[in-house]
Amino acid sequence: MKISELINSPLTLRNITLPGRIARSATELFCSFPDGHVHPYEVETYRELSSSGAGLLISAHTCVSPEGRSNKWQNAAWSDEFLGDCRDIVKAAKSDKNVPIVLQLGHGGMKGEGNNGGLPVLTPDNMTHEQIRGVVRAFGAAAYLAKRAGFDGVELHGAHMYLLSQCFYAEYNHRTDGYGGSPLNRFRITREVFEEIKLRCGKDFPVLMKINGDDRENTAEYHRGLVEVLNLCFELGMDAAEISGWSSARRGVPEKPYFLDNIGALSRETSLPLIAVGGVRRGEDIAAYLAPAEDVGKPAACAVSMARPFLQNPHVIKDLEKGMPSGCTGCCACFGPLDVKAQPIVRCAHRK
Ligand SMILES: Cc1cc2nc3c(=O)[nH]c(=O)nc-3n(C[C@H](O)[C@H](O)[C@H](O)COP(=O)(O)O)c2cc1C
Repeated sequence: MKISELINSPLTLRNITLPGRIARSATELFCSFPDGHVHPYEVETYRELSSSGAGLLISAHTCVSPEGRSNKWQNAAWSDEFLGDCRDIVKAAKSDKNVPIVLQLGHGGMKGEGNNGGLPVLTPDNMTHEQIRGVVRAFGAAAYLAKRAGFDGVELHGAHMYLLSQCFYAEYNHRTDGYGGSPLNRFRITREVFEEIKLRCGKDFPVLMKINGDDRENTAEYHRGLVEVLNLCFELGMDAAEISGWSSARRGVPEKPYFLDNIGALSRETSLPLIAVGGVRRGEDIAAYLAPAEDVGKPAACAVSMARPFLQNPHVIKDLEKGMPSGCTGCCACFGPLDVKAQPIVRCAHRK
């Protein structure tokens, strides 16, 4: 199959249909106002992405509760005060094509330290049951806000060592109650968040999750636990899991996608649709994920997502379709606060 056919074939997940197989992975622009309101530059970014040809846009990591703010430039969705910001994003994202867009929701947990204005910092080990319930409710309320703003669904940020990810890693979670110990116990807070969202937003409201496919040493034990969790998510009715990893955004131009082997292995053990992210730069990378593997008869991933290539060129999909690689150099200058006083404001030093 030609690469453009692979990219543009529609995909129906449980509750959402995507017009194509490339997603713009969640990308913080680190430019919100100090109170968490979205900067107009970010809204313009979604307007550009509306005509990118992406089959799904995933918003920046947006904070569900003030104590969980993971950096001082992070967008917020912890009260109805942010409904207007969310509506602006949705309107811009759908200004050219009606691209599905989901709001990525997260809580920083330990990353709140130094970023949350001196509020108590929640960690997997110090949370009381009441605080866990508070976090779960905050996710539910933020998802309900997303629904009212017109988002097509939400993605839970369960990757990259934010609170849900901290809870899932045995390295950070030493609890001995029902939220610690086994992989399913360490995942319990995420499960409760998922159930709360379905309760608040209805069972048909699409929910995706981003989660790391490996731990620090890429152990077999982590892999086994994750398979259990992905299979549980399938039973619970999750739409898809976007699989990232411990080392999620590396420097330089990768020779192959970071998690090709891991995602290939996971896809053989779960029926939950997987979205592959990390180091996808060429048409061959996309084909490696989306073309059915000969021995299993199904592809490793149902869709592929990219972050930095879209910062370098919002129309990167058109280049990939023509056989050209992404121009992202992997310099990683896109991390950190954005200078919104500079004119023009540019997030990528190599922007096309
Ligand atoms: C500037 C920047 C901001 C990011 N923000 C988020 C985010 O808000 N949520 C998230 O899950 N991942 C975030 N990521 C990680 C990306 O979604 C992606 O997993 C990672 O960059 C690997 O994909 P890539 O090689 O296509 O960039 C960010 C990455 C970059 C470079």
